Amino acid sequence: MSTPLDPRLTSVYKRLWKYVIPYRGIGAIAIIAMASTAVIEMTMVALVEPLMDEALVAKNLETARWLPIAFVAVFILRGAAGFATEASLGWIGRTVISSLRRDLFRKFLTLPSSFFERQSSGPLLSRMTYNVEMVAESVTTVVTILVRDFLTVLAAIGLMIYQSSRLFLMVAIVLPIVAMLIRILGRAFRRYSNRIQDSVGEVTQVTDEVISGNRVVKIFGGQDYEMQRLTGVDESNRRQNMKLIRARSMGVAITQVVFGIGIAGVVYFAGIESVNNNLSPGSFMAFFGALMLMMQPLRRLTNVNATLQRGIAAGDSLFAVIDEQDEKDEGTYRGERVRGVVEFDNLSFSYGDDDAPVLRNLSLKVDAGKTLAIVGHSGSGKSTLVSLLPRFYDVESGEIRLDDRPIKEYSLDFLRENISLVSQDVVLFNDSIANNLAYGQLKRCTQAEILAAAEAAHIVEFVQEMPAGLETTVGDRGVLLSGGQRQRIAIGRALLKNAPVLILDEATSSLDTKSERRIQDALSALMENRTTLVIAHRLSTVESADQIIVLDKGRVVESGTHGELLSADGHYAALYKMQFSEDAAGA
Ligand SMILES: Nc1ncnc2c1ncn2[C@@H]1O[C@H](COP(=O)(O)OP(=O)(O)OP(=O)(O)O)[C@@H](O)[C@H]1O
Ligand SMILES: [Mg+2]
Repeated sequence: MSTPLDPRLTSVYKRLWKYVIPYRGIGAIAIIAMASTAVIEMTMVALVEPLMDEALVAKNLETARWLPIAFVAVFILRGAAGFATEASLGWIGRTVISSLRRDLFRKFLTLPSSFFERQSSGPLLSRMTYNVEMVAESVTTVVTILVRDFLTVLAAIGLMIYQSSRLFLMVAIVLPIVAMLIRILGRAFRRYSNRIQDSVGEVTQVTDEVISGNRVVKIFGGQDYEMQRLTGVDESNRRQNMKLIRARSMGVAITQVVFGIGIAGVVYFAGIESVNNNLSPGSFMAFFGALMLMMQPLRRLTNVNATLQRGIAAGDSLFAVIDEQDEKDEGTYRGERVRGVVEFDNLSFSYGDDDAPVLRNLSLKVDAGKTLAIVGHSGSGKSTLVSLLPRFYDVESGEIRLDDRPIKEYSLDFLRENISLVSQDVVLFNDSIANNLAYGQLKRCTQAEILAAAEAAHIVEFVQEMPAGLETTVGDRGVLLSGGQRQRIAIGRALLKNAPVLILDEATSSLDTKSERRIQDALSALMENRTTLVIAHRLSTVESADQIIVLDKGRVVESGTHGELLSADGHYAALYKMQFSEDAAGA
């Protein structure tokens, strides 16, 4: 159970403070405004005394004249102070939300690929939306409670003591009992709020999958299943929220009952005091008003821990992501464009510590400007092998060298600058074709360069028919294009990058033989004078490679040129024959 001195709590709040500190000027305005609100509200209550005793009972005309003016003034001041409070706190809250969100997003840009594979996207997305809101809300609420509510309670106590210290003694006995009761109730909160966040993430996850996978849902009749899945996570979200609401409203109800009993006591004593001529009607009214005005703030004050805990829970999981290890980037080497000698030296790799190795004791060398083709059955480790070169994963055993220098010594930026990649699954952004081609660092490319790349990758062919041409938007993940069109854009992007090392992972798998052959020309031109690692199922694209390796269960089982491997009559020859007969049958 957390107390306010819990180290985890203080550390999260310390970190949140760092986000607020730059705006302490506005924070000061907020604090002044809140303090004014507390004083003004008490003044309003205090005005009840002259109203009753002077204006109504003693029928003092003077008082009756200035009182209305005083009330108007007080209300104007209260409005102004209220506005200043809301606006300044709101400003700080929204600014903190923005900073948190940007820090988190920046983190998403530098986290290693493996992080995103371990986590599902839903909960990560809800960190960006739900958690940051929750954290900021809790910060501003807690500040409001600690300043405005605390001062209101203080002012109320002051006013009550001023009006009748004996009556206040009565109240002072009731207060601690109430506070204790609320504390006990407040404990129920923290447990729920963490789980609520998880289930919000699950709701996002399921929804996101249904939206992007809507066709699979349709054709396989997954509607009922998905509805059930959503109902499941949504129901648990609803239940947890209900528990929270119940706990909270029970707190309110019990407080009110306890206060009610307390007030009965106050009224009883007030009667006795009045009979003994110790209390005027005006004093009693002001006293009572102060007590009433204090009730809500007091409840929030005793409950401040729960509000705090809610923010802590949200902040905790937010900072957990922000604290994740970035991609390792300890290398410092930056130089001219690399020549492109790629070497894998006794490389072994597995995705997780407990996973079976995907690559085993693999050694090979590709000279600058040469082409290495990698073939092998599905799952043999081809994509894994090429993903190690741009350091999407780090190698623990063995070494990869580029131009005789271990890739760990390169700065990540520089290493990746030198590598172009067409991956097995094409990733396009919801932007125009031109912007998808000239993505990222390629933004500096000229219109002529973009056009030339579009030409070479045979993009112009299909773009011509589109009314907006290269400015046509491709939709989420490129859904408005065909698979082959998407692939051609990915190739065009790689052409445009013009890096000395090129990785083609099934770059033409979605193209028909005719289109593939035409693109092959563009690719062949591109592969000239460039170190290329090419993965292809269709062996025709592989034939002309300078070197071919056959991977099987993460090992190189054969290597050589097309001719050599055919005459060796081993794995490659078998693959080739199978492919050949397939092609013949398909033609
Ligand atoms: N991100 C990952 N995390 C854990 N395991 C993975 C990951 N990616 C691939 N694997 C596993 O590594 C092995 C090799 O996968 P890889 O993608 O390298 O095969 P591949 O030769 O490219 O196959 P394909 O021809 O089907 O593309 C497979 O057994 C796969 O299950
Ligand atoms: Mg693959």
